[in-house]
Amino acid sequence: MRILVTGGAGFLGSHLCRELVKQGNEVICVDNFYTGSKNNLEDLLTHKNFELIRHDITFPLYIEIDQIYNLACPASPIHYQKDPVQTTKTSVHGAINMLGLAKRTGARILQASTSEVYGDPEVHPQVESYWGKVNPIGIRSCYDEGKRCAETLFFDYWRQHHTEIKVLRIFNTYGPHMHPDDGRVVSNFIVQALNNSDLTIYGDGSQTRSFCYVDDLIRGMINFMSSPVALTGPINMGNPSEFTILELAEKVIRLTGSRSKIAFRNLPQDDPKQRKPDISLASRDLGWGPTTELEEGLIETIKYFRSIQK
Ligand SMILES: NC(=O)c1ccc[n+]([C@@H]2O[C@H](COP(=O)([O-])OP(=O)(O)OC[C@H]3O[C@@H](n4cnc5c(N)ncnc54)[C@H](O)[C@@H]3O)[C@@H](O)[C@H]2O)c1
Repeated sequence: MRILVTGGAGFLGSHLCRELVKQGNEVICVDNFYTGSKNNLEDLLTHKNFELIRHDITFPLYIEIDQIYNLACPASPIHYQKDPVQTTKTSVHGAINMLGLAKRTGARILQASTSEVYGDPEVHPQVESYWGKVNPIGIRSCYDEGKRCAETLFFDYWRQHHTEIKVLRIFNTYGPHMHPDDGRVVSNFIVQALNNSDLTIYGDGSQTRSFCYVDDLIRGMINFMSSPVALTGPINMGNPSEFTILELAEKVIRLTGSRSKIAFRNLPQDDPKQRKPDISLASRDLGWGPTTELEEGLIETIKYFRSIQK
């Protein structure tokens, strides 16, 4: 298959490109390098079945492909809040352009949506049928509402043009090739621990998160793409095991053997207190579930961060 991966030079995209090439596909990666980097794709750049194109998906793209994975979008608050207008454009104009391409080529298209569509949820764990509680005018809205609008576009293309869509709601995922400075909790803690500096916790650390290892997510994403046409999603994928932020910090300090202490700071605006996926749909319809334990995944991630520190 000839597969387009937008945002393929980013954290998740680079893992996805690598796996798709490994499975024998021809992969075209499109990225504007806003947060992604060629370094994430170093091993693929000379591969005969891999091609990298510098392109911003807010502009139309004309190529021939069989499948599209639409991952392009800065994903961490630090990055998506730097240029919020561009973030919304990437989600909305990007979706329109990629759906247009899917319609013209007859390609199946998967959207990397997010648990952020649930906002600060009143339902716990979050099920796909929950519509969410999202602030439309806050500093996270460019991302949350952009992703919500992208989902709307996907379902309108499905209803109106019969485009084959797959909408995947991704929960907190971590692993090698995360950005060292994107402010996400796992990368933050590991970088701080490796530098023996204080691990910063926003709030009192009792807020819980669930962390999915990247390999588990990529397996589920590819699995979902090849599922029957009628399975459009939205489907949640993530790891339902919950940890408090304080527990995560303590684990990272232990696994790195760091001398770091923990420092508490004020909670930022709209930070959700709890986030946990209900993955019964993915389990029932795709036979999918995460298999990597948090410690196992942290060890691999710490190894990666040590390697880029040298
Ligand atoms: N990592 C997670 O925990 C997580 C959770 C939920 C959803 N997601 C979604 O998965 C996708 C990938 O996330 P990630 O963690 O790999 O983030 P990332 O920032 O590492 O990757 C995003 C990639 O998109 C590229 N990009 C941004 N704007 C673009 C544009 N206009 N045109 C072309 N390329 C552009 C960036 O340069 C980068 O390579 C995103 O859509 C994100 O919203 C990720």
